[in-house]
Amino acid sequence: MSAIGTNMGAIGDILKNQLDVPGGVANHANQMADAAALIAPAFKKQLAEGATDAKVEIWSDWTGFEKAIEDYESAARALAAAAASGDAGATGKAMRGLGKSCGGCHKPYRKPKEDSYKNQ
Ligand code: HEC
Repeated sequence: MSAIGTNMGAIGDILKNQLDVPGGVANHANQMADAAALIAPAFKKQLAEGATDAKVEIWSDWTGFEKAIEDYESAARALAAAAASGDAGATGKAMRGLGKSCGGCHKPYRKPKEDSYKNQ
């Protein structure tokens, strides 16, 4: 749990900080895309241990969950490409696309805050 939690938190920070470090955007975005490969194994481990805010729907809809990982990965790659091109407008658009892909997975597969295992 903590591994992916930290990873996700770092991604959030990167997204925010990218605004200040345009040169590093492509690099960070590619690292985020590479991190996509870690999501499925990390959640498998987390769900087995029970200490997670991931919903059990991940199991019953594994195909949908993998699709959400793919969407996130391609959004991160798109951001890397846009940043590398130096086109600020395209980069901003790609950032929003990546932000949307987070929600694309959180909405169906993450428990709302009030139901968090951390509150128990
Ligand atoms: C493929 C699914 C998926 C994608 C894509 C995804 N997340 Fe998550 N994320 C989850 C799930 C499930 C949880 C709840 C798991 C937990 O906290 O135990 C979570 C939890 C989090 C948390 C809380 C961590 C904690 O310790 O409570 C943050 C912050 C987060 N995600 C940020 C992001 C950001 C930013 C992105 C996009 C750049 C993103 N996530 C993309 C599935 C995803």
